Amino acid sequence: MNPAAGPLGRLWRAPAVRALAYQCIAFFAGIFMLAAFASRGFPVQSPLAAAFLQGALAAGLSGWRRMAPWWLPIQLLFAPALVVMQALQLPPLLFLGLFLFLLLLYWSSFRTQVPYYPSTRPVWQAVASLLPPDRPQHFIDIGSGFGGMALHLGALRPDCAIAGIELAPLPYWASRLRAWLQRNRARFVRGDYLDLDFASYDVVFAYLSPAAMPGLWEKAHSEMRSGTLLLSFEFTVPGHVPDLEIMPRRDGAVLYGWRM
Ligand SMILES: C[S@@+](CC[C@H](N)C(=O)[O-])C[C@H]1O[C@@H](n2cnc3c(N)ncnc32)[C@H](O)[C@@H]1O
Repeated sequence: MNPAAGPLGRLWRAPAVRALAYQCIAFFAGIFMLAAFASRGFPVQSPLAAAFLQGALAAGLSGWRRMAPWWLPIQLLFAPALVVMQALQLPPLLFLGLFLFLLLLYWSSFRTQVPYYPSTRPVWQAVASLLPPDRPQHFIDIGSGFGGMALHLGALRPDCAIAGIELAPLPYWASRLRAWLQRNRARFVRGDYLDLDFASYDVVFAYLSPAAMPGLWEKAHSEMRSGTLLLSFEFTVPGHVPDLEIMPRRDGAVLYGWRM
């Protein structure tokens, strides 16, 4: 049995989990080094210096284990930032509130590697222009965020079945509320698009991340019906030339499309 394929293997592949593990290793290695310095007559008394030692060890470990380069400054500054925040003596409820807000907004981004960031009206308009005007379509935004795309299409195309699926609770509830307030026909479900059957849709729209694209392509390719359309804003699929490329804004990111 390959342990890397099990649930623990999947968890370990999440960069945030590895980053945390390296911080823990750096914490204990740092204590060991501080004790060694002290025993040789060089005690380190500043918590900030100790935190930087931990950060340097964690960053070094992350670089050695080939984490993406932008993790290195995060690893270096994580422990010093904790020490500085502690010194500010802010009320603990502030941290709890912020933690809960970020948890509800980003939910399992640490696993999916797809955080929330919204597409804009020009992208929604470009997608709307790709829906055939004379035929009702089944459309879904996979990872619908706060629902901007689906609400736009829901208002524009009452003849179509417009849906959004979203993992994170806060954007999901916000899109339900927005649809209800606007009496919009777009429907939202909370869940993982990996559990959907793409065969039910004529157009699947994704605004995800580079990490999600190879898996998305495999799924779309095996499930979507012939003639249907997979759209991805900003992120293409390595090794698969798109059938269409549109720039919703001049000098902006590209909307890619593949006819199945
Ligand atoms: C970059 S945002 C795009 C939001 C929206 N589609 C838009 O265009 O404004 C990606 C969203 O996908 C959600 N997401 C990531 N992985 C998902 C998954 N496996 N199933 C459902 N939603 C997911 C994230 O929570 C995030 O809200």
